[in-house]
Amino acid sequence: MEFQGRDIISIEDFSRQEINHILDVSRSMEPLASKGSDMLKGKILATLFFEPSTRTRLSFETAMLKLGGSNIGFAEAEIASVKKGENLADTVRTVENYADAIALRHSLEGAAKLAAEFSKVPIINGGTGAEEHPTQAFIDLYTMRKEKGKIDGLKVALIGDLRYGRTVHSLAYALALYNIELYLVSPESLRMRKDVMQTIKNKIPVTEDANLESIIPHIDVLYVTRIQKERFPDAAEYAKVKGAYKIDLKTLKNAKKDLIILHPLPRVDEIAPEVDYTPQARYFQQVWNGIVVRMALLSLVLGAVK
Ligand code: NCD
Repeated sequence: MEFQGRDIISIEDFSRQEINHILDVSRSMEPLASKGSDMLKGKILATLFFEPSTRTRLSFETAMLKLGGSNIGFAEAEIASVKKGENLADTVRTVENYADAIALRHSLEGAAKLAAEFSKVPIINGGTGAEEHPTQAFIDLYTMRKEKGKIDGLKVALIGDLRYGRTVHSLAYALALYNIELYLVSPESLRMRKDVMQTIKNKIPVTEDANLESIIPHIDVLYVTRIQKERFPDAAEYAKVKGAYKIDLKTLKNAKKDLIILHPLPRVDEIAPEVDYTPQARYFQQVWNGIVVRMALLSLVLGAVK
């Protein structure tokens, strides 16, 4: 297993053994996330975010600061030279002179892969269009393992926008490497992308359903997602599915007591605020886990840990 200098583009580039190692290193980062460390002293991360973000960018930057490193970057394309017509390849060939690694978020699928072809420093995909969001998947797996003790044996339901949601694509690829049962719950028009389905359905049992009702009593993990309004080509299509499902106390009546509810956030209206106070809600713990997992990823690709 070699991580130093490696790009993190797709979860499909990682084996189960490598993912488990990332989760182990993440656990070892927990005390450092509280106390701080100078493991990455002198190192610089550039965060190039061409699309909106709160957690991904700020947690990458927080992770870097907690490891003694520094950050540069931009949080909107409007203020960068892309606005003047610079292409991504030139932006990357510039920023690699300033930084030891680049975390990139872009609205176009394939953007992180393209950036990696031009970059001498590791590219970390912070979300590309509706395609993938691999670092979020590591966080989701880490949260499941931390909360449930292990990933094997779990029954996991992904609910919401499985078509345009990039976090569920990366997560589904990753879960298919474990011994789990997967339930995919979404309106008909937002079913899981075909290319992802093709890959996962030969590896694990997958059930698709439009309703959560018959599934909820059996599952250990409920992973809720936002309908990705900004990715709909047509506003009328969005109007048809807007508010199609909502998790509230009534939904949870028949759920297992030790069910955990995850959400990559931001939430709009798919989880009622009343759920926040149930023992099953774990989405804000998941936010904390985002720091330790990104600390692990940065120290691995920058060669500070093996
Ligand atoms: C997600 C994203 O950007 O894909 N957010 C995140 O990184 N935690 C989910 C979303 O925007 O719905």
